[in-house]
Amino acid sequence: MEIKEEMTAETAMKTPQTSTETRIDHVAAPTRVPLLDMERELGPLMADLVEATARVLASGRYVFGPECGELESSIAQYCGAEFGVACASGSDALLLALMALDIKPGDEVIVPSFTFFATASAVTRLGATPVFVDIDPATFNIDPHLVEVSLTARTKAIIPVHLFGQCADMDSITQLARQHGIFVIEDAAQAIGARTGDRSAGSLGDLGCFSFYPTKNLGGCGDGGMITTSNEALASRLRLLRGHGMHPRYFHQAVGINSRLDTIQAAILQVKLPHLPAWTRERQSNAARYDQMFRVAGLDQVLTLPMARDGYHHVWNQYTVRVADQQRDALRLYLSAAEIGTEIYYPVPLHRQECFSYLGYNDGDLPDTERAAGEVMSLPIFPGLTEKEQQTVVDRIARFFFGAEATTSSSPARPKYLTGKGAARENTATS
Ligand SMILES: Cc1ncc(COP(=O)(O)O)c(C=O)c1O
Repeated sequence: MEIKEEMTAETAMKTPQTSTETRIDHVAAPTRVPLLDMERELGPLMADLVEATARVLASGRYVFGPECGELESSIAQYCGAEFGVACASGSDALLLALMALDIKPGDEVIVPSFTFFATASAVTRLGATPVFVDIDPATFNIDPHLVEVSLTARTKAIIPVHLFGQCADMDSITQLARQHGIFVIEDAAQAIGARTGDRSAGSLGDLGCFSFYPTKNLGGCGDGGMITTSNEALASRLRLLRGHGMHPRYFHQAVGINSRLDTIQAAILQVKLPHLPAWTRERQSNAARYDQMFRVAGLDQVLTLPMARDGYHHVWNQYTVRVADQQRDALRLYLSAAEIGTEIYYPVPLHRQECFSYLGYNDGDLPDTERAAGEVMSLPIFPGLTEKEQQTVVDRIARFFFGAEATTSSSPARPKYLTGKGAARENTATS
């Protein structure tokens, strides 16, 4: 039940090596570490999941059954919002949120470019224009100063994405939005339970959008989504729009979409939700353990480790390092050959996607986003990942850079490949 990574050891072996002197055939006997292993999450809950699924099957209420309403209340409460409106996916949650705000052709919506496609495609599906804004390179989240300079008379909304599980700088963004009379839609697909101060993702803007795709911190066994809000009028508009704008039956007040949540998914998510706080704590301790292991191995000299901002409760949907000096893809191939799962979120920024070429962006327009796309690599962080597996990941990375397993002493081996700029950086860091 593991989610398969795209690149197998076999394809890695066949792919010619790039600039690095490290060769795939130097990898010792592989020890598999999957990017994600659902079995470890679902296994202990199997009896409850089967019972919940059987109950729905017997009920005959397969779409928007009572479990859906219960899940709406539970998620709203979990996020500190008054209402939850369930729908078919996180992508639909974003689309419905924009529809509820009446976003239309001619309107501009500010979005990051370093995010999943759905953040921006929801905007274009309504004929509106996404305005891509660069990120804060330290957090990967949209930079509020650049949001401010991108505002125009046409700006109707901002969609900050809480990327990898850490909230964007919502104080600055909501303040700007208030000053300029525009809406804030949180893309909280990766950040259920994340907080800034004592406020949770999903309660920080006008609307919060969540995904229950299996890889998310609260994932279903299929697709699902939710919009949270404390605005009653918006909640009832969303309910209307997700059901073809129909109320009462066969009377259509608006042109909505069909975006239903299956009752089985809601029942499964209700079984999983009480475990989310413990899973989140595991993700947080896995992240802290990686930080420590990487530092002990001296790998913080060659990788940029992810950072959690002070006062932010990061929920670590991804643990994403930066690999500079164009070593990222070679390292990924090397890890793949050792059967260590990794992923690149995201290799092509949205402003450089073919389908958005009509918007007229060029290379270099969003330099921090483009640099991140070339450097990021996400490592296994899922709950249930063992300390030994994390050490294997760190050891393999150490072997790639230093030609030796990670050392447990505080004086790591010198990176084999470093010359020029990298060597200077290393010398400074170790002096
Ligand atoms: C940041 C972000 N936004 C939106 C989505 C879309 O969610 P879904 O896959 O449920 O449609 C995702 C999920 O992949 C996501 O990561």
